[in-house]
Amino acid sequence: PTIVVLAGGVSAEREVSLASGRACALALARHFPTRLVEVCEEDLPRGIDPQREVVFSTLHGDFGEDGGMQYLLDSEGIHYAGCGWEASALAMDKHRTKAVAAEVGVAGAREVWFSTSGVPDAAQVVAELGPELVLKPNAEGSSVGLRMISGEAQLAAALAELSHPSSSLVSPELDVELGLRSAWLIEERLVGRELSVGILEKRGPMGIVEICPKSGVYDYESKYTAGRTEYRAPAPLDAQTGEQVRAAAQRVYEACGCRDYARVDFILTASGRLYLLEINTLPGMRETSLLPMSARCVGLEFSALVRELVSPALR
Ligand code: DAL
Ligand code: MG
Repeated sequence: PTIVVLAGGVSAEREVSLASGRACALALARHFPTRLVEVCEEDLPRGIDPQREVVFSTLHGDFGEDGGMQYLLDSEGIHYAGCGWEASALAMDKHRTKAVAAEVGVAGAREVWFSTSGVPDAAQVVAELGPELVLKPNAEGSSVGLRMISGEAQLAAALAELSHPSSSLVSPELDVELGLRSAWLIEERLVGRELSVGILEKRGPMGIVEICPKSGVYDYESKYTAGRTEYRAPAPLDAQTGEQVRAAAQRVYEACGCRDYARVDFILTASGRLYLLEINTLPGMRETSLLPMSARCVGLEFSALVRELVSPALR
């Protein structure tokens, strides 16, 4: 069959997705007839023949990673690799994912969830979670919209901005369209080591990558500007901690009903407590992205990894 690599999309992570798609299409083209198809609207690109083409999606964020595209592919009977629409929708919702993970014994940061139609009181939030906080959209990727907050005054200002249309994450029109303004999380700021684990269903959890952003915060800049972040792959962890991280990743993967592959992100505090940040069902797939780094730790190079990722759709 022809492999159709879907990339681009309508989310704030469009550029990241195009980079993921190009890298994967290049790797796949050495082994399969491959087409890189740019998605530009919330719809299936035309001309995918369910009889002859399978899909490998590298879309991130809204519509691509949140179950919308997966739902369309299912309804057209098109085979694709990766999580189905229900797990995708769950994983895109950080608040719901943390609740599901907590049920299988994996904690997340304490949080206040709100929608912009009812912003919480800053003083109450600080009383509950402390002064060092993270404010983030509930359903975004690549740290788009993420803000570090110190103290009640900063939080009050940030919350006031959110309830006014003058502030913008992308552009005011796009923000509304992308739904960036609806659901938000305020989380207690966890201090610790940031860890990421790739999972392939057939292999289980792979290597653990430690993320050390030079600025101290792994935000959009640190993620996508060369040299801004140092990665340790595999992360220097004692065997027992490594096992604990991998086991937690596997539990979250299963509890969310994931399929084929995903990447799970954590914070490990100095006292040894492990907190789930989130699970990504269509993680970044440039050669230097975290899932490829995690795979390299177990001897799986990028091009072999991409072939393994696409293989479930070829059955
Ligand atoms: N959301 C980005 C692409 C990631 O998780 O890698
Ligand atoms: Mg993410």
